[in-house]
Amino acid sequence: MKIIMLGAPGAGKGTQAKRIAEKYSIPHISTGDIFRANIKNGTDLGKKAKEYMDQGLLVPDELTCDLVMDRIQQDDCKNGFVLDGFPRTIPQAEALDGALNKIGQKMDFAVDVDVPDENIVNRMSGRRACLSCGATYHVEFNPTKADGICDACGAQTVLRDDDKPETVQKRLTVYHDQTQPLIDYYKNQGILKSVDGTQPMDSVFDAIVGILGA
Ligand code: AP5
Repeated sequence: MKIIMLGAPGAGKGTQAKRIAEKYSIPHISTGDIFRANIKNGTDLGKKAKEYMDQGLLVPDELTCDLVMDRIQQDDCKNGFVLDGFPRTIPQAEALDGALNKIGQKMDFAVDVDVPDENIVNRMSGRRACLSCGATYHVEFNPTKADGICDACGAQTVLRDDDKPETVQKRLTVYHDQTQPLIDYYKNQGILKSVDGTQPMDSVFDAIVGILGA
């Protein structure tokens, strides 16, 4: 099963994508996580990506598309994958369709996790991320067991640089301008499914499983 998670920054794409990956035994591919790992390791890609991410802007398509196309051709993607944060522009979606088309495949579902802008800033200021293993928490809705310590790996959790309110506003503007058009793109392909992302996390997951099948 090949799934795309759509939605505004902070809508809960990553939270749900991890659960989908576990339930359906497919890899979770997050471009944001890939960029953050490169930033942490000081790679050239990381240095370039950080310039854009810190401003709330998208990393250019030419730095993003090839790395996803390489990733989805790896062996563990044979039975499908869940894409989280990609595609984010029409050219990225076209590159993905083109790459799959060449091997006679196509995406199965684009799941839009719908959350209004007014809920987003609140969520982001409460998010805490583990930059070591990529786990995500929320101080109110999904807290760590010990304050500031990742449950999964024991590293410190932090407020991401791009989760400061002014950067979140910029990310929302970029989302509406460049990513929201993908909703019509996938509606036209007949694979768009929407879920109400303002519900509690478990209810959102149940709704997604209802769409994907148990
Ligand atoms: P990325 O890491 O993909 O960030 P994003 O899309 O902005 O998404 P987030 O990770 O911020 O949010 P999410 O929807 O995954 O929400 P989460 O589950 O964490 O990208 C970061 C940057 O990298 C981009 O701005 C861009 O610069 C660059 N980039 C990445 N991909 C790119 C691409 N393809 N092209 C170009 N540039 C790219 O949840 C948010 C919080 O809410 C958490 O604290 C969570 O615990 C909580 N929460 C989740 N669900 C619920 C719920 N139902 N109720 C209450 N709280 C909830």
